[in-house]
Amino acid sequence: MKTKFQLFAIIIQFALLALGSCSRGDDGFVIGVSQCSEDLWRETVNREIMREASFRSNMEVVVRSVKDDSRQQIRDIERFIAEGVDLLVIAPNEASALTPVVSKAYRSGIPVILLDRKILNDDYTAYVGADNYKLAHQLGLYAAAQMNYEGNVVEIRGLNGSTADAERHRGFTEAIAQFPRIQIIAEAEGNFLRNNAREKMHSILNEIDRKQVDLIFAMNDQMALGVNDATRMYYSGKRPYIIGIDALLGKGGGMEAINDGAIDASFIYPTGGDRVIELAYRILNGIKYERENILSTGVVDRSNVRVITLQNEQIIAQQDKVETLNSRLNRSATLYTRQSRSLLIAIVFTIFAVSTLLVLIRTNNSKNKLNRQLNLQNEEIKRQVDTLQTQKVQLVKLSRELEAATQAKLVFFTDISHDLKTPLTLIMGPVEELLTSENLSDGERESLKLIQRNSHKLMGLLTQILEFRTYENGKMQMDYSLGAMDRFLDGINQLFTKFIHHKQVDFSFETDGSDLTFPFDAQKMEKIYFNLLSNAFKFVMPGGSISVRLKRVVVKKRLYCELSVYNSDSYIHPDHVKSVFERFYHLGDKSSGSGIGLALTKSLVRMHGGTIGVESDEKDGTTFIVTIPMPDAAAVALKTKEDYDGVSSYCRGQIDAIAPPQEHEKESILEDIEAGDKPVVLLIEDNPDMCTYVKSLLAGEYLVVTAPDGKEGVKMAVKYLPAIILSDVMMPGMSGFEVCRDLKNRELTKDIPVVMLTACGMDEQRIEGFESGADAYISKPFNAGILKVRMGKLIENRKNIKRLIDHEWLTGKECKTLAESHRELLGNFRKYVETHIQEEIDIDDLAADLGMSRVLSQIQRDNRPPPDRDDQHDKAETGREPVVVRS
Ligand code: FRU
Repeated sequence: MKTKFQLFAIIIQFALLALGSCSRGDDGFVIGVSQCSEDLWRETVNREIMREASFRSNMEVVVRSVKDDSRQQIRDIERFIAEGVDLLVIAPNEASALTPVVSKAYRSGIPVILLDRKILNDDYTAYVGADNYKLAHQLGLYAAAQMNYEGNVVEIRGLNGSTADAERHRGFTEAIAQFPRIQIIAEAEGNFLRNNAREKMHSILNEIDRKQVDLIFAMNDQMALGVNDATRMYYSGKRPYIIGIDALLGKGGGMEAINDGAIDASFIYPTGGDRVIELAYRILNGIKYERENILSTGVVDRSNVRVITLQNEQIIAQQDKVETLNSRLNRSATLYTRQSRSLLIAIVFTIFAVSTLLVLIRTNNSKNKLNRQLNLQNEEIKRQVDTLQTQKVQLVKLSRELEAATQAKLVFFTDISHDLKTPLTLIMGPVEELLTSENLSDGERESLKLIQRNSHKLMGLLTQILEFRTYENGKMQMDYSLGAMDRFLDGINQLFTKFIHHKQVDFSFETDGSDLTFPFDAQKMEKIYFNLLSNAFKFVMPGGSISVRLKRVVVKKRLYCELSVYNSDSYIHPDHVKSVFERFYHLGDKSSGSGIGLALTKSLVRMHGGTIGVESDEKDGTTFIVTIPMPDAAAVALKTKEDYDGVSSYCRGQIDAIAPPQEHEKESILEDIEAGDKPVVLLIEDNPDMCTYVKSLLAGEYLVVTAPDGKEGVKMAVKYLPAIILSDVMMPGMSGFEVCRDLKNRELTKDIPVVMLTACGMDEQRIEGFESGADAYISKPFNAGILKVRMGKLIENRKNIKRLIDHEWLTGKECKTLAESHRELLGNFRKYVETHIQEEIDIDDLAADLGMSRVLSQIQRDNRPPPDRDDQHDKAETGREPVVVRS
């Protein structure tokens, strides 16, 4: 596009240049003409100059004339110099007056052509005109002849001081002087003007004897006519012979005067305007020229006046024709120039118009294309907007429905919570009562404690739901009392002492040392802190760290108390960070609780006018930060009586409800396994109470080992190779399904029956459970009898396989029910025994021969079939020699 515009600009520039050159034409010359007089002769010269210049296209002529006024003529010439004319044509009025300015022009570099008259020096380029001396000399001779070389002459001279006057006088007088019988009897200055000459002639004729005057010589025809005017008054008959100079054609000219008999003769004083221009052309164009251009002259009298007039008239007619032709030519040339210019302009504008049109068409095309694209995009956007609008409407509808459902759920929870509280209280009371009895067996006490803990847990949940509803209904009240926040929270810390020890948590509680005494709602603050701290303990791993920090902060000149609770092990993904405080929000596993705890915490913080936020990092752990204002005691309504002392019963109850310390499996468990004769059950369950309960159920028939989560469960399964595994599904970290899939993919554990024991009773979950390889799926709450029968049957199946090996296969029967790998292994085993039947069979040698390591006696005792493969992974995890097949 840019290139196109550049091309376009070049065309325009070129066109403008062409137009510019057209309007200026050739490099022209300006010629200034300064005339000393305004009369017929000068007019004739000027006309000739203009005509001749018009033949040349590059000449412009400017004529300035004065009326015999030397000073004015000097000013005219100065002006021409200032204007920077290319050439000056000057007919100087008075030689001495005009010489300096003519010299100045000449010396400044302007070529000067002197016309008809000269100056006092040679500071001129060229001269055009007659030789006044010669002319006057010829005239003198002619006059003498007319007088038969005898008689009296009157001389009427021109302008005193002009070279024309001086030279003519000299020429005439020197010619006359040759004839002693001719006398000049009178002489006067007529300034080349008719009136002046007439006046002077009158004077002379009055002064002298008129009859003696034979000839009057006037230095030009105009003065000769003046003389004639004067003589008419004095001569009735023959008057003196009158001779003038110029012999101009046309009306008022010398030719006419001779023809009319007003004067008798005249000498041609050639005008030479054409010669002036020709000379100027040569000078300006550096063409060789003559410096002195003397024009020829001749006498005109009655004898030749008609012929000369005729000839001159023909010449004038020819000149007129030429002039007409020339002016036509000029007009044509002008027209041509104009038309050329117009044509050029037309071409330029056509190019411009065509280019503009092309650009416009292109622009229009692109615009149309763009418009089409835009329309398409607009339609697409419109469609998307419509879709979004519909989706928005649906979303709004959905969110309304959701909100309604939530409300309904909350109302339901509230109602049910109210309903549950009474029976729960009626359970808790008698349990407390029973626990005070000293006649309880350990098992009974444990069961009662289990009931007590879980009742507290339920009560805590009910309380949370009811409180949250109170907040949501806008009915929650603040009960401010003045207290030291640091001491207050430290009191709650004491509840967690046993957790700190049990989990070996690096717990710290720090304040910035400032006074943190201010009014707050102690019960609400207690719940806030208890919730955050119990969460931290719930998620922190053994050996992890929890740190609580309290400090004063000033935000926009307001004082705040900032509480941060950090634990080193939990992680909340950024996707969940904003939602953790929403009610019923779950992070995806049951470890996150009911979904009401953090929502209630946030509500309680808000009641204080504070904010709560969370920062979480996968490596560094999670920090909850609560910021509440520290109001002046005067600014809030304080309770008149402090009814809060120490930790509330709510918290005391709740602390019991939180998981009791997890019993680590004793290191001696292996010994128990090896020593005992009960089948080993591995229970993978994160709820300690559930562990305790199941343990108590199975204690008589099984040796129960427990794992608190899936990862640990897999490790323990590999380590103890239990007879059966019971696993929960929803657990932090690995789910029960993942545990099952993992165990069924390991050679060591793939044959161990796995029972899924879970609260997730939906069909899809059962399907997933079976797909993961589970052998049974039992929903909570379960019937203890059913569970035991199921477990028993699964173990019995294993025993059947053992029996097959013991009684059928060893006796040589084909065991079609066994897997190919098992059959091959057993085949090898039989061969070895048959070969070494006479010797004492060493178990290590046998294992070596079979490509296996020593098989655990425990495995044999549990009637489990020997695994057919082992790998380094298993060895590393069990810490014992695994069974190895060398293929
Ligand atoms: C015109 C004129 C002529 C004369 C010439 C002399 O101005 O007076 O008539 O011949 O000048 O310079």
